[in-house]
Amino acid sequence: EDLTPLKDIYADHFYIGNAVGTNHFAGRDLEIMTKHHNLITAENVMKPEAYYDDQGNFTHSSQDAFLQNAVDKNLLVHGHVLMWHSQSEDSLYQNEDGSYKTPDEALANMKTHISKVMTSADAIAGDSLISWDVVNEALDGSFSNPEDWKSNLRQSSGWLQSIGDDYLYEAYKYAREVADSLGRHDMVLYYNDYNDHLQPKARTMYHMVKDINERYAEENPDDDRKLISGVGMQSHYTTSVNIENVRTSLERFIELGVDVGVTELDVGASNTTTLTEEEEKEQAYFYAQLFDLYKEHSDHMSRVTLWGLSDRHSWRSEDNPLLFDGNLQAKEAYYALQDTA
Ligand code: XIL
Repeated sequence: EDLTPLKDIYADHFYIGNAVGTNHFAGRDLEIMTKHHNLITAENVMKPEAYYDDQGNFTHSSQDAFLQNAVDKNLLVHGHVLMWHSQSEDSLYQNEDGSYKTPDEALANMKTHISKVMTSADAIAGDSLISWDVVNEALDGSFSNPEDWKSNLRQSSGWLQSIGDDYLYEAYKYAREVADSLGRHDMVLYYNDYNDHLQPKARTMYHMVKDINERYAEENPDDDRKLISGVGMQSHYTTSVNIENVRTSLERFIELGVDVGVTELDVGASNTTTLTEEEEKEQAYFYAQLFDLYKEHSDHMSRVTLWGLSDRHSWRSEDNPLLFDGNLQAKEAYYALQDTA
């Protein structure tokens, strides 16, 4: 059966992305990747931990291979991720005895990491690399006072523990500097987070980005760009999420005057390994409603990226959250997206 490519269906609206690994550049996975998508994110290989060997030395051969594959297949790339509390390299901010490095030491290591990752990726991917998640999932709190985002910062972040809450501003400022030095003045620097549909958290994200961007604007009156120029809604949903909440969050982020990206979309449909017909239909309807909402706002949205090519390789496999099933066949959700077009 010949399916219409998703990237063609939505060509007038946004890129269709997916999260992949080097192992997906073969066979049926590669077919789905290149037929339906024009943008990829590295599901794991560009995370901090993947850049360091057992001795803590920086290496980038597997990242180079991944990026070269993307370039060869004419796919754009979203860089994921420069700073995260998980899948990180602890030696950047922690001493061997577990104590945290001084703010100056950790800041210097942060800058070295950012500069090496961005520069090595640029050497392979160049203009194909259109954006970076600079900081991922920095927020984790009660969100009872969304304006006070600093009190909702994730305490388990080694960057927060070593540098303090200025690490966010410093990371974006430095990533902007590196991008500029590479001639990439248009580089989109994202803040990316999950539970983006929950209003207390979405409001906290909003205030964090707004404050950081206002500070940059005050300190850099000659630069009319936003420091944080993208907000990533990870969008790890289930069919019981209220789409009106997604709408409220999306519209709130658009108010920041930044690009809003759907960066890691998947929609859990069941908690058993097999989907019932009814669950598959419900999931298809949910996807269709979401994409209608995205299309409505596509002037402010550059991409919708799914988090996995098929239910076979999904990190939420047991929830069957994607558009292609365990045998890599199109599900109802795929056909529903074709119909919304
Ligand atoms: C997940 C990957 O899909 C898994 O393979 C890995 O074991 C853990 O990380 N938020 C993110 C992504 O920003 O990097 C995560 O990806 C999913 C949650």
